[in-house]
Amino acid sequence: MRTQVAIVGGGPAGLLLSQLLNQAGIDSIVLERRARAYVEGRIRAGVLEPLTVAMLDRAGVGARMHREGLPHDGFNIAVDGMLIRIDLKGLAGSRVMVYGQTELTRDLNEAIVGRDGNLLFETDVVDIGGTDAKPYVICRRGDEKLRIDCDFVAGCDGYHGISRSCIPSGVLRIYERTYPFGWLGILADVPPCSDELIYSNHERGFALASMRSHTRSRYYIQCATDEDIAAWPDERVWDELAIRLGEQAASHMARGPALEKSIAPLRSFVAEPMQYGRLFLAGDAAHIVPPTGAKGLNLAASDVYFLSRALIAYYENPNHGELERYSATALARVWNAARFSWYLTGLTHRFPGSTPMEFRLQRAELDYIRCSEAGRRAIAENYLGLPFRPPTTT
Ligand code: APR
Ligand code: PHB
Repeated sequence: MRTQVAIVGGGPAGLLLSQLLNQAGIDSIVLERRARAYVEGRIRAGVLEPLTVAMLDRAGVGARMHREGLPHDGFNIAVDGMLIRIDLKGLAGSRVMVYGQTELTRDLNEAIVGRDGNLLFETDVVDIGGTDAKPYVICRRGDEKLRIDCDFVAGCDGYHGISRSCIPSGVLRIYERTYPFGWLGILADVPPCSDELIYSNHERGFALASMRSHTRSRYYIQCATDEDIAAWPDERVWDELAIRLGEQAASHMARGPALEKSIAPLRSFVAEPMQYGRLFLAGDAAHIVPPTGAKGLNLAASDVYFLSRALIAYYENPNHGELERYSATALARVWNAARFSWYLTGLTHRFPGSTPMEFRLQRAELDYIRCSEAGRRAIAENYLGLPFRPPTTT
């Protein structure tokens, strides 16, 4: 088989890239190791920045998002039950869209499968080679082995994929921080306790009230990294949420059986560079941010924006040069989102073993944000997502 761009991984990054390339007349094949039902069933975050929304519109997959998604003009940070509202619209002029990544993945799958079928599920990429001149990928599909020759490989295969490991260790630099806690998440068919999201800093640990629709809620609580999920029957999770989110939210919190319950670790991770020869990384394959701030999916979208533009420019004029700058351009935005996610995590979580000094400083920061419009504006601007711009240094 032959294609222009072989895309490893059919998560949001790979699917969106395929869609944008197709619109520009560039041929690609998406190779996804899992079955379609598995990919569409994964529960992930659900807050889209305005630039992500605009990209999905431009990619022609935004219709259901506008019908079913919930635009939010603000969100709240709670400190021991007292709310600080971050007025996104008033402070920074825009709004986010609450729409589950699961739904977005379904919309993208639908568009691509309906288009040309260049999306192969249950196809595991086992090798990537020739990235200096004539790239190819080898995949296993049932008992079959496939070889796909291509001009470029897009590594959109997430944190556990194989693409990143194809960059030689002497070239690849890894920056990493693991946090001393995780998030226990619960999804339930109950109305949300609040019209807007609440990120709560409480003495028993962080909690987040989020939603997927007017009838489906998503909640999280900070927990130990080695927490046993069996020790958290639904009632215990609801009881803990009621304490950590504060009286006002608790009084509106409806309880119901968990449709999904899981624990995820928190990590900041950036791999540099995001390209090696004719291999380009995008999304979780190159970086992970802690979910505070909901940047993971939005960063995958901005990588894909830069990569699709650079590939389109290359096919128009191979000497254009934008493709050579992809890593630097994408990383500038990645580091900013990594910084904000790290900052918001530090602001809202309890760190085991933190000193009274650190605790007081965290409180002072929260108090500053409560009192200062400039402080809240900085949070609003970052939460909405920074502009897609080229790096200032080349
Ligand atoms: N061959 C084929 N597919 C693979 C391989 C492989 N060797 N390795 C991994 N994959 C697939 C996974 O099964 C997964 O569906 O790559 C896909 C990667 O998708 P995601 O993990 O969703 O990553 P990405 O598309 O970058 O999306 C980023 O997802 O994890 C969240 O927080 C993250 O919201 C962000 C978004
Ligand atoms: C979610 O709804 O799953 C969600 C929302 C906001 C976050 C993280 C997760 O910051």
